[in-house]
Amino acid sequence: MDLLLSEEQQLLQKTARDFAAKEVAPRAAKLDEESLWPTELVGQLAELGLMGVAVEPEYGGAGFDNLAYALAMEEISAGCASLGVIMSVNNSLVCDPLRRHGSEAQKRDFLTPLASGQKLGCFGLTEPMSGSDAGTMATVAERDGDQWVINGSKNFITNGPHADTILVFAMTRKDAGHRGVSCFIVPTDTPGFACGSPDKKLGIHAAKSCSVFFENCRIPADQLLGEEGRGFGVAMGTLDGGRIGIAAQALGIARAAYEKALAYSKERHAFGGPIAEKQGIAFMLADMATEIDAARLLIHRAAWLKDQKSVRHTTESAMAKLFASEMAHRVTHRALQIHGGIGYTRECDVERHVRDARITEIYEGTSEIMRVVISTQELRKVGP
Ligand code: CAA
Repeated sequence: MDLLLSEEQQLLQKTARDFAAKEVAPRAAKLDEESLWPTELVGQLAELGLMGVAVEPEYGGAGFDNLAYALAMEEISAGCASLGVIMSVNNSLVCDPLRRHGSEAQKRDFLTPLASGQKLGCFGLTEPMSGSDAGTMATVAERDGDQWVINGSKNFITNGPHADTILVFAMTRKDAGHRGVSCFIVPTDTPGFACGSPDKKLGIHAAKSCSVFFENCRIPADQLLGEEGRGFGVAMGTLDGGRIGIAAQALGIARAAYEKALAYSKERHAFGGPIAEKQGIAFMLADMATEIDAARLLIHRAAWLKDQKSVRHTTESAMAKLFASEMAHRVTHRALQIHGGIGYTRECDVERHVRDARITEIYEGTSEIMRVVISTQELRKVGP
């Protein structure tokens, strides 16, 4: 693994950083405060190629690698964590599985408009009674001639209220456990599909999630993604990539909070000098900088492994997400502490960073599930 970024990767990083600084960060507080969906910014992401970063140009993408995608995710999320997750879901959870498992016709009809950002995607795995134990879903799909008929519901679907396409997981063989799960591509204007009202969340207010419902929702048979009964593997493999995106989102949030704490600690005077000169604050800053860097290295390793095509990176992605999300929790709280009272108010962005960081420990697999994934691999290494 080369720790030096290629020219291409640096170019995308700079493009995303400049865009985030000029266009995204100045609007983030208002988008959060008023819970506004960032229509214009999502359009600008598409113009910059950031809705299909690692998708080949012939399918509407920007043709970069997954490390470049992680770099861009960090920058966009440092500007606005909500915009970060909108981008992450479209890239990692929708475009990536379509790219890896889609037929030529599916790539032409569904991947191309999603990767170019003309359309927006969402990912339907979680259900009210099936979150961490993803293989126990109740949504079913039954074959009827040359169609599939889907019935059931999904919840906490990020991008749900605005998506044009959903990748949905449903049981096609009810008695087969996770081996009965299949994945389907469903345009959201299909009769029988409906969205609930947006969830009221602690953070990432500008990114909308909702429940979605399938009532005798009929789709053509050729909208099955991958093989029938192999959908659980599609979901898990997709999350191996998605967790890199969420780790990069957490990294961006932490970095934004850290940079504000660093600047504030130099400006704010107490007891005869800037608080940065107090060892209690300086050591906090040292820990924050070190943890941010450690998270970035784990993320870059996981993204680099994903770019090695045939290498499985389940554990490395889980480690990156586990460490980056818990790091973002610690770093944003320390940034708030350094700001003191003002940090607890909405006059200061750090309060938003604290709220936005929290979800990264939950979605695309909780920290507990990340520990299950990592320890399962570790325990396999030990033994006679
Ligand atoms: N890649 C490919 N296949 C995989 C895999 C992976 N990473 N992990 C497991 N599999 C396969 C296994 O090989 C096995 O296949 P076979 O049956 O052919 O042998 C099968 O899947 C079952 O594996 P397990 O027995 O390990 O599965 P499990 O039922 O014990 O579950 C789990 C494992 C890790 C707990 C999994 O259920 C999981 O990741 N849960 C968390 C779900 C999650 O992350 N949800 C997030 C929702 S999306 C979201 O949050 C989006 C958003 O809002 C932004």
